[in-house]
Amino acid sequence: MAKDLSIQTGGKDEGIVINDGWPGYSLDLFNYPTHYSGDLECVYIPHGVIMDRTERLARNIMDDLGGHDTVVLCVLKAGYQFCADLVERIKTLSRNSEHTLPMSVNFIRLKSYVNDQSTEDLHIIGAEDLSFLTGKNVLIVEAIVDTGKTMKTLLKHVEAFRPKNIKVAGLLVKRVTNSSGCLPDYVGFEIPNRFVVGYALDYNEYFRDLNHICVISESGKLKYKV
Ligand code: HPA
Ligand code: MG
Repeated sequence: MAKDLSIQTGGKDEGIVINDGWPGYSLDLFNYPTHYSGDLECVYIPHGVIMDRTERLARNIMDDLGGHDTVVLCVLKAGYQFCADLVERIKTLSRNSEHTLPMSVNFIRLKSYVNDQSTEDLHIIGAEDLSFLTGKNVLIVEAIVDTGKTMKTLLKHVEAFRPKNIKVAGLLVKRVTNSSGCLPDYVGFEIPNRFVVGYALDYNEYFRDLNHICVISESGKLKYKV
């Protein structure tokens, strides 16, 4: 899936592709909380770029789903920031045109990572009874998709409640060799297989309070290891 350095054009929108060689931006070029000094390698995706891409995803979602009542299903914890910003932009579009997207927002929680490693057991919390999804258009909002195994499990779980239609928005998709081939319908960025934090993505619950998406340093990993 390595891309050359040509400008991305039409076709299926796989998101903004960040190449394997992308070194990120020097931390000195941006503001970030001093309590994370030494814990980060670089700014990988600045907050402003995340916002601009989210604005476009909101428009794509509105073009496809506008006019239909939709249940937004936010996948916590990492998805909270992306979901809030995406919903906010869809609300702005709904306020400013004839075309609107009536939404309700619900939350479920998944947990499968300890340190920077995925564990086999995926916990879905708050998803026992999703019968309110029956017959509805559902938009699942996730921060990150790597192997797609989690997304596959979640889709199977949601499908059992017989929604009318399911779409998935993922801010980040990692290029991994063991992908299940399960990809979101709306993708913010396709990134190399590196562990990233910030914008609500955590390493053992740290770094959610960082607005840029950053690469964690080796010393950061050691400092917050459990
Ligand atoms: N960062 C934080 N959480 C994650 C990641 C990541 O890169 N991949 C899967 N969960
Ligand atoms: Mg996590």
